[in-house]
Amino acid sequence: MVPFVRSLVPSFVRDLRALGRTRRENTRMEAAFQSPRPELLRNTRVLASRLDLLREMPKGAVCAEVGVAAGAFAHEILALAEPAKLHLIDAWNYPPQPDCFEPGLAKVRARFAAELVAGRVEIHRGLSADMLGRLPDRSLDWIYIDAGHDYDNVVADLAGALRVVKPGGIIAGDDYLRYDTPFHRYGVIEAVNALANRHGAEFLYLTMDYDTNFAVRLPG
Ligand SMILES: C[S@@+](CC[C@H](N)C(=O)[O-])C[C@H]1O[C@@H](n2cnc3c(N)ncnc32)[C@H](O)[C@@H]1O
Repeated sequence: MVPFVRSLVPSFVRDLRALGRTRRENTRMEAAFQSPRPELLRNTRVLASRLDLLREMPKGAVCAEVGVAAGAFAHEILALAEPAKLHLIDAWNYPPQPDCFEPGLAKVRARFAAELVAGRVEIHRGLSADMLGRLPDRSLDWIYIDAGHDYDNVVADLAGALRVVKPGGIIAGDDYLRYDTPFHRYGVIEAVNALANRHGAEFLYLTMDYDTNFAVRLPG
């Protein structure tokens, strides 16, 4: 909805609509949920935090972070996973309304100025599905997904990841947890489990920080 039209709709009407959407999404997620097949969990390791997850990633890799914000985690990726190349993908204005993420791009440009010049970091500004669509097939060793957390966005990001990550590569991401408010519902667990089951991707890691992270390995 364009901002002008939106401002004419009373906020309680918008809230009621959002409540209805979330109720429908809850029903859809309950139907979509599946547990990972047991054989995909045989080698799963539990780690303390997503920083430990980065320490487990292969060094010298080509990788991407989808959903970057101000680059706090991208900084950790460079320091702990030591990639040869890091693609940073974010719309930096999504959802398209005033929000806290807009200043992130300037911070990212300043923070990684040297790496951008050296070509170790590359910025791709746009919707994640579109930006992933521009990366070559099988060009990444691993990817970290932390952009839109609703089911449809996660499914789209995972589909893009499946194409750009090499066989035997890793798809990881944030917020593998149940999170719903009256106005919002995550769909990360539902989307990741479905992908793992459909493609036989084994769970390598789960983390025990507040925003539980996951990492699955695609079949080689
Ligand atoms: C939770 S923040 C990322 C935080 C970052 N990974 C970290 O830990 O420091 C989510 C980011 O995803 C971006 N985002 C959300 N949905 C998106 C989409 N569909 N396409 C591109 N970027 C998106 C937002 O602009 C925001 O910067």
